[in-house]
Parts: sequence; C-alpha cells; structure tokens
Amino acid sequence: MQQWDVIVIGAGAAGLFAAIEAGKRGRRVLVLDNGKKIGRKILMSGGGRCNFTNIYASHQNYLSQNPHFCKSALSRYTQWDFISLVQQYQIPYHEKTLGQLFCDDSAKDIVELLSSECRKAGVQIALQQQISSVSYSNGLFQLVTPELTRTCQSLVVACGGLSLPNLGATAFGYQLAEQFGLNVLPVRAALVPLTWQPADKAVFEEISGVALPVTAEANDVVFPEDMLFTHRGLSGPAILQISSFWQPGDELLINLLPQLDLSAFLQEQQQKHPDQELKTALGKVLPKRLVEKLLEIKVINNQPLKALQHKSIANISQTLHHYVFKPNGTEGYRTAEVTLGGVDTNELSSKTMEAKKQPGLYFVGEVMDVTGWLGGYNFQWAWSSGWVAGQYC
Ligand code: FDA
Repeated sequence: MQQWDVIVIGAGAAGLFAAIEAGKRGRRVLVLDNGKKIGRKILMSGGGRCNFTNIYASHQNYLSQNPHFCKSALSRYTQWDFISLVQQYQIPYHEKTLGQLFCDDSAKDIVELLSSECRKAGVQIALQQQISSVSYSNGLFQLVTPELTRTCQSLVVACGGLSLPNLGATAFGYQLAEQFGLNVLPVRAALVPLTWQPADKAVFEEISGVALPVTAEANDVVFPEDMLFTHRGLSGPAILQISSFWQPGDELLINLLPQLDLSAFLQEQQQKHPDQELKTALGKVLPKRLVEKLLEIKVINNQPLKALQHKSIANISQTLHHYVFKPNGTEGYRTAEVTLGGVDTNELSSKTMEAKKQPGLYFVGEVMDVTGWLGGYNFQWAWSSGWVAGQYC
C-alpha cells in the first residue's frame, strides 16, 4: 500500500499543471496515466508545434452550460502567466494568426517544460497504469491497479475527453464523476470536420483539397476563417470552429466571398470586359476548381457578362454569399480536437475545482463541461483549471 497526499489521474496538460502546483506547495504528488508517455496530445497538437495559448483568451471563448464558471480560473492564471513561463524556459514562439501562439520548433518544448517543472516540484509519474477501481473511506481515496493499491487525501481527475481514442482517451473521468454522484452532461465531438450527405459527396469530393477564406454560420454564430473541401466533407478552421455550434439536422451557411461585394465586382467587370465569361470573372476571386464545379452542378450558368441582367447578378451574388450546405454529421471522436459537455460545472467550485458533493475530489481540464474555441483556448483552460486545483488539492 502506497500513501500519497495527492494523486492525479491523467498526465495531460491539466493534470501535469495541477500536479506541479500541488508539488510546489510541498504536497507529495503522484500522476498516473494509462499511456506510455506524458503529454501525448500536447505532442501532436498544433501540427506538432502546439498552439499553447491565445493572447486574447477570455471567458467569451468558451462553451459551457454555465458560461461564468471559467471566469475565475482564467483570471487567476492567465495566458500572460503561461507565456511568462514559456519565456522563462526560453522556448521560441510566434503568433500565427488571431492571437494564437505556437512554438517555433516543436511541441516537445512544452512537454519538456512540464517535465522539468514536475521534477523541480518533486512530482512522481507512473505510466501505463490501469486503474481498476477507486473508492473513498475514512477521508482517503483508494486506487487499485493490478500491481498495488494506493491511497491519497486529494484525487484530481484530469482524464480529458473522448477525442482520439487511439491516444488513450477513455470515459473514466465521467465514470468517476457519476460514481461520486456528480451529474455529467451529454458529450459530443467538437472542433471536428463535418461530413457530406451522400449526394453532396458525389458532387464535391472531386474538389477535395480546394481551400478558401469564408465565413461559416450556424445557429447565429459566425466564424471568419479558411474552409477546406475534403473527400469526406468540409474541414479547415472555419468549419472546426462552427462544428461546436452546429447540431445534426442544422444547415450551414457559407459566405464564399466574405471580403467582396460580388454584385459590385460583377457590375464593374461587366463594364470593363463585357465579352468576358462569368466563369473567368469568378475565377479571379474564387478557386477555379470550385467555379467549375458550381457551373457543372448548375448553381450558376456560364454566359458572357454583357448578357447578365441586374437581377441575375443579384441572384448569383446572393447564392455565393449565402451558400447552404446540410452536413450529414461529423467525423466523430476519431478526428475531433475536443469533447463538448462532460462533468457539470454546477457540481464544482469555480474557485478550487473541487466537487461540492465530495471533499478532496477535483476535476480539471477537458473532462468538465468547459470547451474552448479553436486557437489555443483549450490548453489555456487546462493550464488555468489545473493551476487553480493545484492551489487547494
Ligand atoms: P488530455 O486529453 O490532454 O489528457 C488526459 C490524459 O488522461 C491522457 O494522457 C490520457 O491518456 C489519460 N487518461 C485517460 N483515461 C485514463 C485512465 N482511465 N487512466 C489513466 N489515464 C487516463 N488545444 C489547444 O489549445 N491548442 C492546440 O493546438 C490543440 N491542438 C489539438 C490537436 C489535436 C489533434 C487534438 C486531439 C487536440 C488539440 N487540442 C488543442 C485540444 C487539447 O489537446 C485538449 O483540450 C487538452 O489536451 C486537454 O487537456 P487535458 O489535460 O484535460 O486532457
């Protein structure tokens, strides 16, 4: 039987951060993970360069049934606190776009930072651990693995969500919450590509690889970013962002030319080049493969610009500024970056991340019902919620 002050389940961003902070307070901390390495999602995040935070992060960038819950943690451990830690380790980084900070070299730099902070704080880590049961009696949690039983005063659940099951994702965090009587909100894949209806697939899979800047809109939420046609459906940052707001059955409204007044452009082209074909004019502002596809499926009809009546120009403009797709679904947890829903934040203290019904039990990171937009916000939530729990556990 091993005795610890704190056991953290999950050696991802949130769990390691909670462990480091608790270790700094002199707590004897053990992190358990089912995988072979720590920080596996960090390593593959941001295309291997980890978008570790966002300089504009605020509570407005998160989805949760209680949108106020994340405010306290985000204001106590901010993006600037994490940036200053990154600077302390002299990790080179840059802003890619929209406040998103990425490592210049590799996401490994962030994992090495966490590993070094764990060493300094005396945090122990045990990998490839299969926890078969967790129980609570006489003020102690008891965790059983095939090799041994461990006890701890505080248990931090940092098991993450369900995305990327091949990287060790499990529903264990949700099961533990339910075991201790906490409500778990329905979960679904988010920041995920959307898939075609069969009829659209037959039409659009031929133009997979075509990308363009758009605005994507669903349920009155709009994201301006790039969109990518794929063999399976639509992807790219605009689609990943809107996927968190899109529900099965909803339409997706795409403005294919968000930065242009297409009517004005076509009228100008008509005056300057009356013999020019519509296809050629549209090819100046849209990817040619997309224009050809739109002609092929008769969304637009090719003709010389001089033949276009004012009304036709208005119709073409309306269609391309408000293109409607009806996705079939999402690619699911296989490719999703995050999981929406999870442990109900009403069950937790926003100051400490401790369960109101179970003293000593904490939840941090993605396992709970706080989900960030694309762009470094999910790691910032992991750092902020982990940091907060680490002050109390
Ligand atoms: P995380 O999932 O990181 O860690 C949970 C840990 O618990 C894992 O190590 C898992 O193995 C372990 N575990 C699970 N069940 C267990 C069990 N039963 N027993 C023991 N251990 C168990 N975000 C962002 O801000 N910027 C970015 O660039 C990206 N990029 C990105 C790319 C890809 C491909 C994905 C899938 C996700 C992202 N994200 C992201 C999202 C981000 O990775 C995610 O929100 C955080 O990693 C969540 O951190 P957590 O520590 O909460 O969970």
